[in-house]
Amino acid sequence: MILIIDFGSQYNQLIARRVREFHVYCQIDPPDIDIAHINSLKPKGIILSGGPSSIYEKNSPKCDESIFNLGIPVLGICYGMQFMINALGGTVKRARKREYGFAALKVKTQTGLFKGVDETTKTWMSHGDSIEKLPRGFRITASTKNTKIAATAHVKKNLYGFQFHPEVHHTPKGKAMLRNFLFDVCGCKRTWTMKSFAKDSIAQIRETIGDKKVILGLSGGVDSSVTAILIHKAVGKNLTCIFVDNGLLRKDEAEKLKKTFKQHLNINIRFVSAKIQFLKALSKVTDPEKKRKIIGKIFMNVFEAEARKIKGAEFLAQGTLYPDIIESQSAFGGPTSVIKSHHNVGGLPKNMKLKLVEPLKYLFKDEVRILGKELGLDENLIWRQPFPGPGLAIRIIGEIKKRRLSILRDVDEILLEEIRTSGYYKKLWQSFAVLLPIKSVGVMGDSRTYENIVAIRAVTSKDAMTADWARLPHKFLGHISNRIINEVVGVNRVVYDISSKPPSTIEWE
Ligand code: XMP
Repeated sequence: MILIIDFGSQYNQLIARRVREFHVYCQIDPPDIDIAHINSLKPKGIILSGGPSSIYEKNSPKCDESIFNLGIPVLGICYGMQFMINALGGTVKRARKREYGFAALKVKTQTGLFKGVDETTKTWMSHGDSIEKLPRGFRITASTKNTKIAATAHVKKNLYGFQFHPEVHHTPKGKAMLRNFLFDVCGCKRTWTMKSFAKDSIAQIRETIGDKKVILGLSGGVDSSVTAILIHKAVGKNLTCIFVDNGLLRKDEAEKLKKTFKQHLNINIRFVSAKIQFLKALSKVTDPEKKRKIIGKIFMNVFEAEARKIKGAEFLAQGTLYPDIIESQSAFGGPTSVIKSHHNVGGLPKNMKLKLVEPLKYLFKDEVRILGKELGLDENLIWRQPFPGPGLAIRIIGEIKKRRLSILRDVDEILLEEIRTSGYYKKLWQSFAVLLPIKSVGVMGDSRTYENIVAIRAVTSKDAMTADWARLPHKFLGHISNRIINEVVGVNRVVYDISSKPPSTIEWE
């Protein structure tokens, strides 16, 4: 494995992605990780990430300097390089202004980390301070016009530093440089595959859970579904999944899920229908945050009551992913302001004394999808677009009523069918319909209508942090609009949402 020490760079997850793309396992840990722990991980190499600080700032992040004496190869990137050079007796110059953007890197010799890299190559810089004087044993391996010491190496000790970022796409040969570090310097092997992960993970879950019982909140999304299959393979009937039908799902969603999990995969599931409870509590509520809070609270109550019926349960499984863990442990991961109170299925009820099992906690989303495929999960589930915990409640603007739910479900089904058959489903991050709380006048046949308006939302995104509205062809949008107005009684107008995030959000509430 490769250990990545996180000095707070916005790119630290990218470093991990790059390493894993080479089928090498890596882990991101905060700077205060202790030496004993590092030794126990037996890393083949250490990467020190960049970060926004200057090493001269009072509270700049630091790790134990003895990592440079462990005989383990180290690659310092940007702040990581400056930290290493400073720790080993070199000097870092405070910058008067930041250098940001592309820079042509002139490589001294095409050996070591620069094997296979052109003599002049594009790199991406984002730094303030730079190295002034190197410690003994280090030499300059590459320079740019503004930065004389843009790369350095102490070959004998296997210590390397880059002032630029090899992990970003803007450094086209960055992958080759990282590959040289991983395989030539650290001697890593390409053994990290989802097949090997599945095998090890199943064995580990079996050892942890043994013949005890485990509960899992199943939402039908890819994360909880993959977790369910993985745990089922490890402990079979000792896994019980709980699926709460809140009455806010898409058309036939609960039925479809039942079929997949119970009939095809033979997984133990308890379906709890709590539709009435949810709808009653939501009656007359129009405020988005109130809706979210109510749904979150009832979900917990229902889930907890059901879980208590499972006698002897000692574990609670969750489909937590690696980005959630990294964000909560990051050196700079301060609390961000609450835009929307997210409700996620499977949160640990506070007073339940269950031990957590989170088998996906070191995986990224795309790895979870590959794992799902490896485990034989249905393609439709693997590629399912995200669906929010509060479901259609946050896509019906205003009051939620049975009739309005039914209208939205019918519209949503037509939209989904069209998006699927046209081949857009996988290309879009999300596509859905929103029912508006206003009516408009229309004419159907010879009569006047006064009916509902729906908005279609389709966005592209990599991680939901930012999103762009999808440029769907006008002809295609026209076809969807015609179908909706002709087939769904109660709708006489369709509009298309052309706002991006930010400043809008993906969901309307
Ligand atoms: P927004 O609307 O904030 O949504 O741009 C970002 C992403 O999160 C999804 N979303 C949720 N997911 N529970 C979830 O599990 C929630 O309460 C929730 N609210 C929004 C949304 O669909 C989008 O993918």
